[in-house]
Amino acid sequence: MSRERWGSRSTFVLAAIGSAVGLGNVWRFPGQAFANGGGAFLVPYFIALITAGIPLLVLELAIGKKFQKGAPGSLKSVCKKAEGLGWWAIATSFVITAYYCIIMAWAFNYVWHSLTLAWGSDSGSYFFGNVLKLTDSPGTLGGLNIPILIGLILTWVCVWFCIHNGTKSVGKIVKYTVPLPIIMLVLLGIRGLTLPGAVEGLSYFLTPNWSALLDVNVWAAAYGQIFFSLSVLFGIMIAYSSMLPKETDIPSNALVIAFANSSISFMAGITVFSTLGYLANVQGVNISELGYSGVSLAFVTYPAVISQLPGGVVIQVIFALMFFIMLLTLGIDSAFSIVEGIVVAIEDKFHWGKKKTVTIVCFAGFAAGLLFATNAGLYWLDIMDHWVNDFNLIVIGVFECIVVGWIYGADKLRNYFNEGSEVKFGKWWNVMIKYVIPAILFVITVIYLKTNISNAYEGYEMKYLLIGGWGMVLVTILVGFIFSMFKESKSN
Ligand code: PHE
Repeated sequence: MSRERWGSRSTFVLAAIGSAVGLGNVWRFPGQAFANGGGAFLVPYFIALITAGIPLLVLELAIGKKFQKGAPGSLKSVCKKAEGLGWWAIATSFVITAYYCIIMAWAFNYVWHSLTLAWGSDSGSYFFGNVLKLTDSPGTLGGLNIPILIGLILTWVCVWFCIHNGTKSVGKIVKYTVPLPIIMLVLLGIRGLTLPGAVEGLSYFLTPNWSALLDVNVWAAAYGQIFFSLSVLFGIMIAYSSMLPKETDIPSNALVIAFANSSISFMAGITVFSTLGYLANVQGVNISELGYSGVSLAFVTYPAVISQLPGGVVIQVIFALMFFIMLLTLGIDSAFSIVEGIVVAIEDKFHWGKKKTVTIVCFAGFAAGLLFATNAGLYWLDIMDHWVNDFNLIVIGVFECIVVGWIYGADKLRNYFNEGSEVKFGKWWNVMIKYVIPAILFVITVIYLKTNISNAYEGYEMKYLLIGGWGMVLVTILVGFIFSMFKESKSN
């Protein structure tokens, strides 16, 4: 069977931008910048982008295009033993998909709540109490939360719909889901910037605290943000580029993707902080007293701002709808890209047929997500995110660089992607892949282990961290190993 292909170069680039630009740009980047030195964070951020983000993006796009397989298949072509590493990345993606879609399910619920601005004057207790019905411990699951379950079903139906026809349906969808949220972000930004307090908000975001640059944790945060944001190390970019025709230019496309992604992150920072400045102004508090990161930014702080917007209820409802629809359209192409990474990997090996594989993976992802649809879902999401996302990915990154940089040969791959490219990457790329990225990731791993072994993350009881954290890490490794052991079925 011949491999499916992207309709055009621009469809591929849009889809890759769609994957990179997601919820992470809106709440992760501004929050990270704020917590790690404000404007000074841009320095480690850009250094991380150039030394690790772009080189890894090029690496992944190049091996996908060269070997025409998803992550496990491509890594296997590089080195037989590395197939398990690819499957480990895929198992990691699976866990991440399960909870990424739950956040989308919350956003679906909030589109509904926006119609009546249902959070009223206390958006915090509305979110944790009325919407999530959060229990007091991860051990008290408290049953399935029906509205969230409905949101989850809607999310998975959308994901299925977007990818059921492979690159054809993805191509049609990304024409809308990539530009639409950007337009909404700009509109929200204009509103934010024209509110009183915006300037204070922005100066909070951008005033550099140079001493932060001396803190290794700030650097670790910058690298972590770059990997998550560019969707590298999840097997997605490899899968997407495995459907590229031979003549596509990798380095210049990678630069376009990376530039678009960082610009949108920066724009989101401006939108978010100018708006937070307004809220602080209305409430007469300091911005640091407002929730500005993670789920609370989107589901607690932003709704609070919306209720305070001047112009009456209709305007508030319009902005509320715009914000949550923006989140949904931002998230959807990231969500289906992770699923597509898994589907391509399975399809390459087992040849079940694309539609059938999509349906099975969507169903499995939905079933796995049920845990997060319970009333203790947020706790498990938080714990798994901290281990499976943060820890697995950095370790996968170290191995990926070793396998490609040392076993396959950085120079060989560089010659391959430079050939016929408008932009040529020099020897510095080899140095990044072979030495700099593995060394940095190694340091981040050590810091991670040190903090997480001596402290209970967020004060959770150890047993939950063992199950949802270290336990899940082991499960993903095991699943990766088992999948690499299966024999490849014959294609039909
Ligand atoms: N890059 C996406 C974001 O910033 C998140 C994501 C990670 C998407 C991994 C797909 C895979 O939100």
